Amino acid sequence: MKKCHYFQILKLNSFNYEYINDAITNKLQIKRRKTMAIRNILRSGNPILRERSTEFEIDQIQTQATRQLVADMFETMEAANGQGLAAPQIGELKRVVIVRLFRDENYIDRVLFNPKIKVVGKSKLGSWEGCLSVPGFVGYVERIRRIELEFYDESAKKNLETVEGYDAVVYQHECDHFDGILYTDRMTDSRLFGFDDTTDTRELRALVKSN
Ligand code: NI
Repeated sequence: MKKCHYFQILKLNSFNYEYINDAITNKLQIKRRKTMAIRNILRSGNPILRERSTEFEIDQIQTQATRQLVADMFETMEAANGQGLAAPQIGELKRVVIVRLFRDENYIDRVLFNPKIKVVGKSKLGSWEGCLSVPGFVGYVERIRRIELEFYDESAKKNLETVEGYDAVVYQHECDHFDGILYTDRMTDSRLFGFDDTTDTRELRALVKSN
């Protein structure tokens, strides 16, 4: 299986998504590819990962420096086979995150500035998470299933969306990085943690649950 940031994608019910216009996405990606660079990903234990990130001023979103940062984030995420990356993971304490959301054979990439998450309801969704800042490991985490997501996009336009299921998990994981939180802090059972190449997710969970 292709290794990616969150490699266990749960079978989910129905979603409501707003699909990004492919043409716009492609154009942005071509633009990005010209100047980007792979950056060093900070790993758990580095105190920078525990700091709080600051918000963007709205007029900072479309500057060359910000575009460069986002381009570098994409390059870095792709090189590491990730499914999401928050700026603090490359040492930039700014509230911007990129995520790659898979849709059958395809994926869509999103860039979110100053994202804010409001939980909706109490229903939870458990999944095995990984993180480029905790390479080689996976852990089982339960998060809120349904969220309201507010953010600014790359054209500095404000968006409000309701997201549920696995995508909601991805956004919650990534946005935690802005507040110095790693998924390992969200785990409630440390037995459900292990190397990604040895953890039998299904069997381990069943065993721990029954003990
Ligand atoms: Ni992460």
